[in-house]
This record gives sequence, structure tokens and C-alpha cells, in this order.
Amino acid sequence: MDRLRIQGGVPLKGVVPISGAKNAALPIMAACLLTDAPLRLENVPHLTDIRALLRLLETLGVTSTMDGPAHRLTLSAHALQQVLAPYDLVRKMRASILVLGPLVARHGKAKVSLPGGCAIGVRPVDLHLRGLEMLGASLSLEDGYICAEAPKGLVGGTVTFPVTTVTGTENLLMAATLARGTTTIVNAALEPEVRDLATCLNAMGARITGLGTPTLTIEGVSALSGAKHTIIPDRIEAGTYALAAMATRGALTLKAHALGTLLPSELPMLIQMGAQITQEEESITVSAPETLSACDITTEPFPGYPTDLQAQGMAVLSLAQGSSIIRETIWENRFMHIAEFVRMGADISVHGLTAVVRGVPCLQGAPVMATDLRASFGLIIAGLAAQGETMLHRLYHLDRGYEATEKKLSACGACVERVRAS
Ligand code: EPZ
Repeated sequence: MDRLRIQGGVPLKGVVPISGAKNAALPIMAACLLTDAPLRLENVPHLTDIRALLRLLETLGVTSTMDGPAHRLTLSAHALQQVLAPYDLVRKMRASILVLGPLVARHGKAKVSLPGGCAIGVRPVDLHLRGLEMLGASLSLEDGYICAEAPKGLVGGTVTFPVTTVTGTENLLMAATLARGTTTIVNAALEPEVRDLATCLNAMGARITGLGTPTLTIEGVSALSGAKHTIIPDRIEAGTYALAAMATRGALTLKAHALGTLLPSELPMLIQMGAQITQEEESITVSAPETLSACDITTEPFPGYPTDLQAQGMAVLSLAQGSSIIRETIWENRFMHIAEFVRMGADISVHGLTAVVRGVPCLQGAPVMATDLRASFGLIIAGLAAQGETMLHRLYHLDRGYEATEKKLSACGACVERVRAS
């Protein structure tokens, strides 16, 4: 397994190009199953998770052409061969559940492995399944697989989510585009990635209204066409690098179009920590203060502070002046990075889903282990700010969701080196 060697203590200064959003690209790739025509995607990030979903789509019979340097991906489901999403592929990438809605909507059936949990939690999909039943699908569980049938097609209805679910909203949104009649999704997730999917579906001929509100209305159509769509920038990657600038007392310019509209909760939090923020049309510059200020974080669905920035925010607050309270309200097991931070000298105590972070003057480099995608970058941030060397193990977690990390960090002065598994 690859590792990342980090020499800490260097303030990051420079420009970071922000890649396309992983969590927008994944549902939009699955949307190719809704039509025979080609779906041409721009600004697709090079990530393990993207390649994993591509492998799954190809086992279903989707053909693809990827222009790597151009971050361009064209998908075509004109020759779909089967509707089985096997356990071995789904278990490696939970977002594979996103093929369920499109397959049932367009092909009348699907057999998708239950994803199972992951490091941060049980990750249930019961709301996806109940929503599809509301649209007329009949579902059964056989040998760990969800077997879904809708031989006469789906019928529009009202789907009310008791809790907001990002991929649940996305699955139902895609399914409803081809249902007969009107579907209303109540308490839909507001994440920009959901909106990006809806924008792409409308470009394919879907009739979705209410974008950006918690109530989405979908007028079913008989067929969807192909489309060309550019994936929005990755707000979690942008927030991650902004927090890296803060922890290292540096200043980074995050380059991407209209980034400011995607960071409504991150920017106020950075300002509370003491950041100076300047926004341009194509970039945001985050400059750290000499002394970081403690502040409380509660993770919430969009537009609240993202759970996917919780570990990265904790790394910064472990160096702030004063104590901070961090509450994780989305995932039941998303504090595994704390033990690793403590090994670097952080003063953090856990009380259920609340962590008390007492700022310390500095952290010490140490060998640490990544436990999940976002924790891996939280540990990188701590290592970049620490005195001495940090070796981050299990780097495969990072490669799932961050493109060209060493290249982007090195361009801003960081001393990082990937140590290939022997
Ligand atoms: C999406 O996961 C993201 N993944 C996650 O990012 C992110 O952490 C999460 O949303 C929350 O923002 C993708 O978009 C691919 P949820 P998702 O369904 O859709 C409960 C990353 O690092 N729930 O919004 O799986 C669930 O337990 C990843 O990029 C049910 O109870 O999350 C949780 O408490 C990690 N039943 C809450 O809802 C369901 O059927 C929100 O989960 C579905 C969800």
C-alpha cells in the first residue's frame, strides 16, 4: 500500500486548481443508463471511485471513451447487456447503489447488491428502497441483493424523506424522470451535487422543477436523449485546501468557476477561525491569521457545515487558541481520525458524537493511518502543520476522492512524497 511522507512546518502559498466534484460525477455517470444516446461529460475528476463506477457501468454493458488529459468522459448505454450490479464491485464503492433507480426506471428491473456499511457508518439505503416502492417498484432481498421489478414501468407519486439523503434523492430523481405521471420529492437534499444532477437530467429532456428547494417536482417523460454536461467544481476539495492553508498559516488561491456559491457554510466557518477571504469570479483566496481562533462546528446537511469537512476542520482547530466543540450529526462513526490526531499531540476528547478540541501550540509529526477518505486529508493537514515528519499509511483512501494531491500540494510549497508500496 502506498504511503505519503510529509515534512511539516511549511506555510502553503500558491494556486490550487479545483477538480470536478466526485459526488456530482458519480450520480451523473449513472444517469447514462436512462438513455440509449451518448452522455458527454466534461471536468470529470481522475479518481479511484470514478474508475470503480465506470467498471460497474461497463459490466452492465455501457461503452465509454475517456479522454484523460481533457477530463472528458463519454458514456453510452445503447447496448445494455444485463441489470446485475455484483457484490464484488458494489462493496468497493457504495455509490454504486445509484444504478438502481435508473435501471428500474428504464429496464423495468434491477439486481443490485446491498452496499453494506463502511468505516464511517452502517450507511443504510432503506429510504432509497421505500422511495422506489412508492413509485410502484416491487422489491425483495435475495442473497444480499436488492431485486427490483417494475414490468409495467414506474408510476409517479409523492416520496417524502424523513431525513435528507443525498444519494436517496438522486436515485429517486433519476427514477422519476421516466415514471408515468408526476413525482414529488419532499425533503429533498439541497447539496449542489444534487442540483448538478438535476441540471444534467433536464438537459437530457427531463422535466424537473424546484431545483435548489427541498421540494422537487418531476413530470415523467417517455424517453430521455443524450446531452453534454460539465461537472461542477468540488466544494469539498476546495474546503479541504482552504483548511490546509489555515493550518499551515499560509494563503491559497482556489481556482474554479463560481466556487463562492458552493461554499455557503464553509466560508463563515473559515472567517470564524480568522481567515481573510477574497472572492473573484474564477477563484477564492484564503489567507490564514497568525493565531487561529477556536470555534464550534456542527455538521449538517447543505447548506450547513459539511460532514465531509469535519476531519479537516478538526485538524485546524487542534491548533487554534482555545477550545472548540465539534458535533457530528450525520455519521455515527466519523471520529476515527481523533486517535491519530492525538498521536500527533492533539488534545481531543470524545463524548459520544461530540468531540472537545483543546488547541495546542503545535503538533508533532508521526506515522499515522488513514481510516476513510476525508480523514486521510485531515491527517495530511495535521502533518503539513506539524513539526517533523509524518508518514500517512493506507493512501488508497485518499486516492478515492482527491485528484493529484501530491502535485497540487507540492506546487504550493509542501514537502510531500508518495512512497510506493514495494
Ligand atoms: C453522500 O452520502 C455523500 N456521498 C457522502 O460523501 C456524504 O458524507 C453524505 O452524502 C452526507 O453529506 C456521495 O454523494 C457519493 P446520505 P450518502 O444518504 O448519500 C441516513 C465522501 O466522503 N440514511 O445523505 O450515502 C444516513 O444514515 C462521502 O465523499 C438513512 O437512514 O449519505 C445518514 O445519517 C462520504 N437511510 C443520513 O441519512 C437511507 O436510505 C445522510 O445520509 C439513506 C440515508
